[in-house]
Amino acid sequence: MSELTSDAPIGERPDRPLRVAVIGAGPSGFYAVAALLDADLHVSVDVFDRLPAPYGLVRYGVAPDHQKIKNVCRVFEKAARDPRVRFFGNVEMGRDLSRDDLLRLYDQVVYAVGAQTDRRLGIPGEDLPGSWSSTEFVAWYNGHPDFAGADFPLHHRQVAVVGIGNVAMDCARVLARPAEDLAATDVADEALEVLRASRVTDVHVLARRGPAQAKCTPPELKELGELDDVDVLVDPADLEDAAAEGELDRQAEKNMALFQALAERGERGSRRRIHFHFLVSPTEVIADDGAIGGLRVERNRLLADAAGRVRPRGTGDTFVLPVSAVIRAIGYRSVALPDVPFDDRQGVIPNRDGRVVEAAGSTAVRPREYVVGWAKRGPSGLIGSNKPDSQQTVDAMLEDRKSLPPAADEAARRPAAVTALLAERGVRWVTFADWQHLDALEVARGAEQGRPRVKLCLVDEMLAALDAAPAEV
Ligand SMILES: Cc1cc2nc3c(=O)[nH]c(=O)nc-3n(C[C@H](O)[C@H](O)[C@H](O)COP(=O)(O)OP(=O)(O)OC[C@H]3O[C@@H](n4cnc5c(N)ncnc54)[C@H](O)[C@@H]3O)c2cc1C
Ligand SMILES: NC(=O)c1ccc[n+]([C@@H]2O[C@H](COP(=O)([O-])OP(=O)(O)OC[C@H]3O[C@@H](n4cnc5c(N)ncnc54)[C@H](OP(=O)(O)O)[C@@H]3O)[C@@H](O)[C@H]2O)c1
Repeated sequence: MSELTSDAPIGERPDRPLRVAVIGAGPSGFYAVAALLDADLHVSVDVFDRLPAPYGLVRYGVAPDHQKIKNVCRVFEKAARDPRVRFFGNVEMGRDLSRDDLLRLYDQVVYAVGAQTDRRLGIPGEDLPGSWSSTEFVAWYNGHPDFAGADFPLHHRQVAVVGIGNVAMDCARVLARPAEDLAATDVADEALEVLRASRVTDVHVLARRGPAQAKCTPPELKELGELDDVDVLVDPADLEDAAAEGELDRQAEKNMALFQALAERGERGSRRRIHFHFLVSPTEVIADDGAIGGLRVERNRLLADAAGRVRPRGTGDTFVLPVSAVIRAIGYRSVALPDVPFDDRQGVIPNRDGRVVEAAGSTAVRPREYVVGWAKRGPSGLIGSNKPDSQQTVDAMLEDRKSLPPAADEAARRPAAVTALLAERGVRWVTFADWQHLDALEVARGAEQGRPRVKLCLVDEMLAALDAAPAEV
């Protein structure tokens, strides 16, 4: 670090740290915080999330029967507890703070808002009651406040899950596995009740391409085959066609071996079944008196495009799957932030190595604005994939920091300016100490039932719990 001189760049004097706002407290946001804290610099970071609880999809996406994965929150907690970091839960950019506010209050702003909605199939009947996106279904069973009280009646026997990525595997597993397996997890109480009463017997997983192109990873596929009282049905004929396609990558090779083992095992008379259907695309969710009367699907064949990618092409040959509910697990999608550029085609904030640019393909950088995680590169990748991705953005921020001009209004860069503005607007923010209080409350509620936690699922419920026993700040 350079000498303490009055004209030293921002971040090189303890009395003038680099002030950074991170919008979104999911993995990518916290990996960015951790990278900033590791830099040889004086930093002061405020992390905002629209929800009172931090950790994004680790809390509201990762399946309840994958508890161990959630241990990664300890890494994020360590960053949040650093005295250079403040957490502002229940503060939404676009509702409580604008882009202009952020650029006035901070030297640099990082958008870490993930992908809050779903991709669309674009077929008739997609919005019928009983046709849900995985974004909704997953958030509901994980106790996301936006979906508390949502209606997911599982009184049908046959359900389709469209897509064959890991989210589709999560949905199929949660639907098929005995509800009692979930009773010892942090699944939302209301979802557990519905799953206990579920009448689902058959889950149909629909892949538009073949088994060799399945996006799901081998451990997740293997797990399906290990569920109690569930048969996983694969037509051996589908595997023969795939075998003729030539050389496979490692994931495809492992998946094919697993599909092969499942095909050989066949039906064993279990209470529930998961059926894999390959080379089919939904073309219509069929309405039946306001409900779903079936799912029309078209058979596909595979064609390689000019770049060698294997694409599905409809054959015109259709049939109807007799399902009464449909879960569309075909990927998540980012939502545009007010006044921030958005690439509608890719569903991302356009950027160059994490520096926000004016539009897709543009080289015109928006100074002091950055992006990380799913909002930067699209909705794919594991929790850990966000670490190098956030580091890349922070490297760009640190490089740009050296030439940051002084703020027009230096007083606005003081940490107290943020709390003053939020207080003036009547925003009820949740501090990290508040969150730790809620966390302890959830864990204590869980301990009474032998569960890791019982989630507080409503924002009002969380705020009321804080009012009842305010945390020490
Ligand atoms: C269903 C599902 C299950 C998954 N399971 C696994 C798994 O088991 N293992 C694994 O390694 N990976 C898993 N992943 C992938 C992993 O969750 C992602 O890689 C990771 O969460 C992406 O991080 P992110 O920070 O970009 O987005 P997110 O985790 O979505 O975080 C974004 C945060 O931004 C906040 N936010 C959004 N808009 C605003 C706003 N306007 N103002 C303030 N805050 C805002 C959100 O509330 C959220 O907290 C799963 C993904 C899904 C969808
Ligand atoms: N346990 C875990 O580790 C875990 C759990 C959940 C999620 N995740 C990760 O989170 C990320 C997101 O997962 P995801 O499952 O949402 O996305 P994904 O891996 O991209 O899978 C999306 C699936 O939807 C299909 N699809 C897309 N558009 C379609 C359409 N119009 N019609 C029919 N099918 C369509 C895709 O088929 P094509 O391949 O043909 O495009 C693919 O099978 C992934 O990186 C995943 O690994 C990890």
